Amino acid sequence: MTSPVLIAPSILSADFATLGAEVRAVDAAGADWIHVDVMDGHFVPNISIGPAVVKALRPHTDKPLDVHLMIGPVDPFVPAFVAAGADVVTVHPEAGPHVHRTLQLIRSLGAKAGVALNPGTPIEALDSVLDLVDLILIMTVNPGFGGQAFIEGGLGRIAAARARIAATGRDIRLEVDGGVNRETAPRVVAAGADVLVAGTATFTGGPDAYAANIAALKGG
Ligand code: DX5
Ligand code: ZN
Repeated sequence: MTSPVLIAPSILSADFATLGAEVRAVDAAGADWIHVDVMDGHFVPNISIGPAVVKALRPHTDKPLDVHLMIGPVDPFVPAFVAAGADVVTVHPEAGPHVHRTLQLIRSLGAKAGVALNPGTPIEALDSVLDLVDLILIMTVNPGFGGQAFIEGGLGRIAAARARIAATGRDIRLEVDGGVNRETAPRVVAAGADVLVAGTATFTGGPDAYAANIAALKGG
């Protein structure tokens, strides 16, 4: 039995010139979490935003800020993102030499800890950190850009992660990121996902479309 499905719009696809208004708009349109993609041009081949932007956005919503760190090394920046208002901080095992320590660090600062697996990262990477995570993020694109095509092999990986969560008996969220749209959303939910990141699928059409876009992702 999974939890109700949550929608986390990725602001990577928002209008960066009006990010505060964009966050307020998706909040009002039914977003459950706000997904913030942080990229350093090193761990992934793109640069996005840093903790100052997270801090600036914090007053614009009461919804959880779901901060996905695609930076390496990651440990030196975790405290700044938590201080800026991140509720969930998700890291990739490849982003530092000691992912177990990184997850401990996130929790020690009072945030929820997530681990993200790229399409090429063995699913077994979860097994040694399951007791330290509040969220598992299965990437269904290679990280770095919005608007990429969904990688079908992700479905089996979502199911494998769901089985691991069930075996723990703990309340661990299972998030999917990359190429989630009206067609793929029901499929990833059927595979076991309960948090859907959606950049393109949320922001296409501008603010007037956000409520319908989010409702469609929820199956409505
Ligand atoms: C990719 C990011 C995603 C991205 C998703 O590196 O982690 O969150 O913004 O974009 P869409 O939903 O357009 O595939
Ligand atoms: Zn993301």
